[in-house]
Amino acid sequence: MSTQTSWVPPDIDVDRASPARVYDYLLGGAWNFDADRQMAEAAIARMPWVRDLARYNRSFLSRAVRYCAERGISQFLDLGSGMPTSKSVHEMAMEIDPESRVVYVEQEQVAVAHSELILASVPGAGVLGADMRAAQEVLASPVTRELLDFGEPVAVVMASSLHYVLDAEEAAELARTYLAAVPAGSYLVLSHITDDGADGSAEVRELVELSRATTSAGVARSRAWIASLFDGLDLVDPGLVYTSQWRPNTPLRLVTDMPAHASLLAAVARKP
Ligand SMILES: C[S@@+](CC[C@H](N)C(=O)[O-])C[C@H]1O[C@@H](n2cnc3c(N)ncnc32)[C@H](O)[C@@H]1O
Repeated sequence: MSTQTSWVPPDIDVDRASPARVYDYLLGGAWNFDADRQMAEAAIARMPWVRDLARYNRSFLSRAVRYCAERGISQFLDLGSGMPTSKSVHEMAMEIDPESRVVYVEQEQVAVAHSELILASVPGAGVLGADMRAAQEVLASPVTRELLDFGEPVAVVMASSLHYVLDAEEAAELARTYLAAVPAGSYLVLSHITDDGADGSAEVRELVELSRATTSAGVARSRAWIASLFDGLDLVDPGLVYTSQWRPNTPLRLVTDMPAHASLLAAVARKP
């Protein structure tokens, strides 16, 4: 049995790994428990480069937020935001525009508690502890409405989170619903795990299998399915690519040698 520590919300099961805390461990964070660390180590055993996968996703998110912010987007709806790992979306956005507004939506209680602590002193950002699948509730929530003006463009961020919505039609409909709620000039920032690649797809399938033992199983999807989420939107160059290939800042070795090891396809697109 794990020992409950003081920062742990009282009614959570610390003996079952959660994707938010496993991901936190892979990124070097401290908001995780034995069960999460064991699950992360099991993932590393099956996919030795899984920490790179997490880091590439996180740095894609950083570049994508910067891209949007540099084009005048100052509102972000971050769905499945995870731990507020440095740098968080609000920190990235506020570097470009200090008046930026960010709403984090997350269902994992430790991540929500940690986000609340960090954001208590940040007037432009808030966290909503909610299931992002309840789109109408998320969109109507006072946290969302107080911070975001849906008359102005919003970047809808689904970074490594839509693959936890297991039903494919529900997942696609969810992306459409959030995009329908924001005006022209808004952006979709999305990354999603795939087992379509020539390299690493067997390992991705093993990760998906492992995820069934966590609080939230995931699913890998095809390139064609992920691409279809951007139908009707204007894809930003270079289109749908592995996270490590999306406008990289530095010529990382893995980017040139084995891009499919990033395992998540990513894109940014503008709503016309
Ligand atoms: C792999 S983490 C990604 C975190 C962050 N978006 C990033 O890219 O660095 C996926 C997050 O999505 C959250 N998540 C999964 N399904 C969710 C749902 N239905 N509603 C809200 N959050 C969800 C998980 O709890 C987890 O924190």
